[in-house]
Amino acid sequence: MIVIPWFVASLMVASGAFLPVEPPHTMCKAIWIIGAPCGDVSVALVNQIKMWSSADSCSTGGEKCRYELKSSNQTYIFAKHTTADKEVDDLLFHLKPSHDSPTCRTVGISISEALDRVSDNGANYCNLFNLVEGSGLTKAKIFKEITNDFMCNERSLAKCEVY
Ligand SMILES: *[C@@H]1O[C@H](CO)[C@@H](O)[C@H](O)[C@H]1NC(C)=O
Repeated sequence: MIVIPWFVASLMVASGAFLPVEPPHTMCKAIWIIGAPCGDVSVALVNQIKMWSSADSCSTGGEKCRYELKSSNQTYIFAKHTTADKEVDDLLFHLKPSHDSPTCRTVGISISEALDRVSDNGANYCNLFNLVEGSGLTKAKIFKEITNDFMCNERSLAKCEVY
């Protein structure tokens, strides 16, 4: 029997692979429409995760560090992010070329492993957005973000330079 860790199951649920059941964790699902081939988007995100894997890039504060790449291919990127106060969040990017335009539909999902946290100050959103911004994808010719407080816990409180 294959045992699927709960967070992989949650990520699959959140990505719409199964019935949409709300997991009891703080989370964020955001969608970016990016004017670049999905292969380039994948390479950019993976490189940024690797670049921010040590704690060094946070020596002056912020959370742009302590990322860990779990696995990646052209379609899926799995990673983890550990915050300064040792909260572990599981991340997934699902990349899909758009049919009708030269863009890559990038769905990002971040789920906190902690069960006792109801407030995250938008940290799950920032886990994803910081990678998208840091890798330069926000500067693509076409760039559109779909997110709100329903899709992303406390999105409107997000201060991605801090949390
Ligand atoms: C990419 O990884 C996912 C998740 O591990 C897997 O289901 C999928 O088949 C892989 N796709 C390719 C093209 O290897």
